[in-house]
Amino acid sequence: MPRLKPEELRSFRWFGREAMRTFNHRSRVAQMGYDRREYAGKPVIAILNTWSDINPCHTHFKQRVEEIKRGVWQSGGFPLEMPAMSVSEPFQKPSPLLYRNLLAMEVEELLRSHPVDGAVLMGGCDKTTPGLIMGATSMRIPFIYMPAGPMLKGNASGRTLGSGSDMFKFWNELRAGTIGMQQWEDVLSGIARSPGHCMTMGTASTMTSAAEALGLTLPGAASIPAPDSRHAQMAVLTGMRIVEMVWEDLRPARILSAESFDNAITTVLALGGSTNALVHLLAMARRAGIALTLDRFDQLAQRTPLIANVRPAGAFLMEDFYYAGGLPALLERVRDLVHVDAPTANGHTLGENIAGARVFNDEVILPREKALVQGGSLAILRGNLAPDGAVIKPAAADARLHRHTGRAVVFNDYHDLSARIDDPALAVDENSVLVLQNAGPLGGPGMPEWGQLPIPKKLLQAGVRDMVRISDARMSGTSFGACVLHVAPESFIGGPLALVRDGDLIELDIPARSLQLKVDAAELERRRAQWQAPEPRYRRGYGALFAQHVTQANDGCDFAFLADQSAVPEPDIF
Ligand code: FES
Repeated sequence: MPRLKPEELRSFRWFGREAMRTFNHRSRVAQMGYDRREYAGKPVIAILNTWSDINPCHTHFKQRVEEIKRGVWQSGGFPLEMPAMSVSEPFQKPSPLLYRNLLAMEVEELLRSHPVDGAVLMGGCDKTTPGLIMGATSMRIPFIYMPAGPMLKGNASGRTLGSGSDMFKFWNELRAGTIGMQQWEDVLSGIARSPGHCMTMGTASTMTSAAEALGLTLPGAASIPAPDSRHAQMAVLTGMRIVEMVWEDLRPARILSAESFDNAITTVLALGGSTNALVHLLAMARRAGIALTLDRFDQLAQRTPLIANVRPAGAFLMEDFYYAGGLPALLERVRDLVHVDAPTANGHTLGENIAGARVFNDEVILPREKALVQGGSLAILRGNLAPDGAVIKPAAADARLHRHTGRAVVFNDYHDLSARIDDPALAVDENSVLVLQNAGPLGGPGMPEWGQLPIPKKLLQAGVRDMVRISDARMSGTSFGACVLHVAPESFIGGPLALVRDGDLIELDIPARSLQLKVDAAELERRRAQWQAPEPRYRRGYGALFAQHVTQANDGCDFAFLADQSAVPEPDIF
C-alpha cells in the first residue's frame, strides 16, 4: 500500500513551509500548549463532535472524544476536537431535517478551511449521521464514522420499552382510555434510561448500520450499546485507524460506490429499517457522485428478507441485537446478497470483515427461512397521486389495507389536523383514507415526521388501530401503520396531493405499486387551475436559503448546489 510522505499532508501547507503565515500558525499552536514535536509531520485529525447539552443521545460524547484522541495520539496523529451542530431529534423544530443540510455545509467548510488531513465524525442521533457523512464526502478527505451506539433497553413496571414505538403505542392507549396517568408517567421515566440513540430500529439505528455497511465505520461499531465498555474501546480503535487512513490516502471515493450503496440498502431492508433512510441514502449517494434512484430500493426490497427481529417490525431491541451478534452476524446471514468485495475503512473488504461472524440468538437475528418478511418489506408507489414516487412499509401495515380503496378525509396542514382529528363530528370511518397536505420539504417545512397521522379518537375507542394515511411528510422509523409517505412532488408546490378533496376516492394497491386518485383528469385540471401557491414559509435567513435550493424527497432533499460534483479549490494561504 503506497503511503503519503509528511510533506504531502494537507496540513503541511499550514505548518510545514517556512513563511510568515506558517510562523503565525505554529505560534498559535504553541499558544495552545503544544510543542512542535507533538504535531510536526503528523496527520492532523479533526474530531467533529456533535455533543450538545440539548442532545440526550450524545451525552457520552465528552468522554468518547477523549478516547478517540487517545487512539489518535497512540497512532502518531495530532487530534483536534471541533464542535459541530448537534441536530437534536427530540428538540429541534419545526423538523431536524431542515438542519441536516446546514450540518453538512458546516462539516465540509470546517474541514476545508482548517489544516485537517483526516476526520473522525461523531454522530448517531438521526440526522447527524447523514449530515456528517454528506459534508465529509463532499470534502473528499479520509474520514471514519464513530456511531453513538444505541441506549439500553427501556424498562418500567416490569415491561421492556422501546424508543418512540412505545410512546406512540401508550399515547394511543391513553387517548383510548385503556391506561391512566400513572402508567403514562411510568413510561416517561423508563423509556430512555442511558446515553445513546433510540434503541428501536428507528432512523438512528438504521443510519448508523447503513454507515457501517457502506464501509465507513470499524466492523461491528454500529451495534454496540453506548454505555458498554466495548463502545469506548471502539472509539479508541477508531482514533487509531483514522491516522493510518490518512497515510494510506483512503479517501471516500475509494470506499463509496454503487455497490457499497447497494450494501447499505440491503442492510436497511434486512433490518426492517426506517423509511427515512431513502431520503438520506439518496442524498449521501449523490454527494459521492452516484446516481441512486428510488427504484433501486424497490428492486433490492424484492429479494431481501427482513431478518432482524427488532421493533417496530419485530419484538426485540438493539441491545438484544448486539448480544445476538450485531450487524456483522446479520450481514453474514445475507452474505450472498451483498457485494463482499466492497472496500471499507479498516482496509479490508466487507466480506473479510463479516467472514465467520456468528449469530448467538436465532430469535433475534432470524434464519432466512423464518424471516419476518421474505421480500418486499418496502414498496415504492407511483400513480397520478405520486408521479415522482411515494413509499410505504407493507410489513408495518395491517394486511387488510394492502389493497384498499376509501374516501379521502383531507387536512390542509398539521394545524388543521390537530384541530379536527378528534372532533366527534368528523365524517370518518375505518375505511376512510386520511390525507395530510403541506407537510413536505417546503411545506412542513423540512418534511417533519407527521406521516403517522393519529387515528381519530372515536375510531380508537371503537378498536381501530390502523387506517390508510397519505402525506408528503416523513415518518419516524419507530412508527408503524399503513402510512404512505414522501409523496412527490409535494402539495406545497402544487403536486397532485394538493388537489385532493374530502370524499374523493383513493386507491392504494401495494402489490401493483400503485397510488391513484380516482378523479377524472378534466376535474383535476379544473382544480389545478384554481390552486393558489401558499405564501413562502420564510422570506429571509436559513429557511429562505433552504426553500430556494432544497430538492424533493425522491432526490434526497439535498441542496442542488451541494450535490454538484464540481471541485472546490483549496484555500489560499497568504
Ligand atoms: Fe436521538 Fe432518537 S432521539 S436518535
